[in-house]
Amino acid sequence: MANINIKLRKAQANKKDEFYTQLNDIENELRHYKEFFKNKTVLCNCDDPRVSNFFHYFSYSFEHLGLKKLITTCYKSQNADLFSRNDSEKAVYLEYTGDKNGDRIPDKSEIGIKELKGDGDFRSKECIELLKQADVVVTNPPFSLFREYVSQLIKYEKKFVIIGHQNAITYKEIFPLIKENKIWLGYGFKGGAGHFINPYYEDYATAGNHKDGMIRVSGVVWFTNIETTKRYEELELYKKYNPIEYSKYDNYDAINVDKTSEIPIDYEGMMGVPITFLDKYNPNQFEIIDGIGRYSILDNERTKKEGKYLSMINGQAKYFRVIIKRK
Ligand SMILES: C[S@@+](CC[C@H](N)C(=O)[O-])C[C@H]1O[C@@H](n2cnc3c(N)ncnc32)[C@H](O)[C@@H]1O
Repeated sequence: MANINIKLRKAQANKKDEFYTQLNDIENELRHYKEFFKNKTVLCNCDDPRVSNFFHYFSYSFEHLGLKKLITTCYKSQNADLFSRNDSEKAVYLEYTGDKNGDRIPDKSEIGIKELKGDGDFRSKECIELLKQADVVVTNPPFSLFREYVSQLIKYEKKFVIIGHQNAITYKEIFPLIKENKIWLGYGFKGGAGHFINPYYEDYATAGNHKDGMIRVSGVVWFTNIETTKRYEELELYKKYNPIEYSKYDNYDAINVDKTSEIPIDYEGMMGVPITFLDKYNPNQFEIIDGIGRYSILDNERTKKEGKYLSMINGQAKYFRVIIKRK
């Protein structure tokens, strides 16, 4: 019984990662990187080709984008029946090198299906071998493994366009990459929220954010390390600094700005802005200095020892703030 309970709980947790990206969201983002994909090997490594629109997008756009190869790996346990022994079906990966019979459709006979030895975990040795072959990785990875997922991409020096939650900006593993301009945000979702296909929507029933097999997830963004023109758009500002409206933090030498659009045009010192600023961040216009909440994200040990709440004004805590400075 205990064993079944553990299995049940694990299955519940896994289900939270089971939502699928819509084709038009993929198209809307990837149209901005079209030139980049020419002659590239693309890997989608969290994608069951039976349901993944990433696989659909790249296989159907193969010739249009001028791709070299598409590799898709499927994580097996997502299809495992909770009460089966989970060993009946092997994980597979697919390789597609383009249309051969001239009908411009990826046919079954043109898609090479190969078995994996393990379960298709992106961290497994055989999946890492496939990663090494790839130039660029594009997917919506499990949010619960986002830190590890990104670390692996950085370790193997891969280009990527992936979906994640904006809260990942505040992770100590991710923030330094953003500060050092090794990762930035892509074009994003309309209204800052994505609608994903969710086969387990009954699990979200109490959240009130599901509809017709879809789930609305607010705060989802695209993370990438591929150049975009959006990244160099100047943020237009109109407000002037005054010390009444822009208070300083009690324990950090920066002014607080509650909305990105209210960043004062004429302030040269450090400013604390909400994480949504990253969507407008132009590295030629601003420099990222740090991230603060209770402590500094970059100087965590020292500030923790000091024990002073950093993003506080007159004893009232603010949310996490990105500390920036005009260039
Ligand atoms: C948010 S879903 C997105 C699925 C698909 N990429 C899409 O966008 O439609 C994340 C997927 O990662 C899979 N997954 C979970 N853990 C994984 C792992 N360790 N390795 C590879 N894939 C994993 C899940 O089964 C799930 O299908």
